[in-house]
Amino acid sequence: MRTKYIAGNWKMNMDRAGAVDLSKALVSELKGLDGSFMIAPPFVYLDAVASVIKGSNIRLGAQNAASTENGAHTGEVSVAMLKDIGVQSVILGHSERRDAQNESDKLINEKILAVLNGGLEVVLCIGEQYSQRIAGATEEVCGKQVRGCLKGLTPEQMKNVVIAYEPVWAIGTGKTATPEEANAVHKFVRGVLAEMFGNETAENTKILYGGSMNDGNAEALLAQPDIDGGLIGGASLKADKFSAICRFSVK
Ligand code: 13P
Repeated sequence: MRTKYIAGNWKMNMDRAGAVDLSKALVSELKGLDGSFMIAPPFVYLDAVASVIKGSNIRLGAQNAASTENGAHTGEVSVAMLKDIGVQSVILGHSERRDAQNESDKLINEKILAVLNGGLEVVLCIGEQYSQRIAGATEEVCGKQVRGCLKGLTPEQMKNVVIAYEPVWAIGTGKTATPEEANAVHKFVRGVLAEMFGNETAENTKILYGGSMNDGNAEALLAQPDIDGGLIGGASLKADKFSAICRFSVK
């Protein structure tokens, strides 16, 4: 039986004081809630946020990690460094990085293996562009991303992988997939996982929805059988909105 998981991707937002204030507010809002929650601040505020959420029911996430272990990689941050400061989960394959940093499924696959080898959780983002959706290519695009990014993983490693379906046209636009549209893609992705890793892994893997999820639409999205939580951008920057979504996930 899959339980729900709500994760906040703060992207490139906040300053140090804001990051501390938001995480303090979330610790207090989510106190005592029996659910799974994660927040992913920018790298430079991870340490500050780690101190605030230590001992709470909120996991610490990073928004990226290097595929290599160490060495001459200017500007990169390794999995070991993230572990060192208390990071438990890493978001990989976000469409903003696939687009702006040209990240390929092959590179994302290497990063996933690095994160899993380091013993951390992966939140793998997949999703189609609007032009691909209207061309009827959603399943083809998402299937290819899942197969490419999870290539060579074992069912055992998959226990530490969460997938986030984020249709690119729904990110930051206020447009969401309807609960039924989103659920259909989640179901398709679960079928791909079954082909790759078997039914047990497919049934146990959490598939989150992301793309303009907020406190107004979360309840209906989370009610769908194959939607196991949310990866929230804009609405994760406000303690009241993010905690409202978290509360729907434990109902
Ligand atoms: P929004 O919730 O702002 O649409 O962002 C979703 C997202 O990209 C989370 O990773």
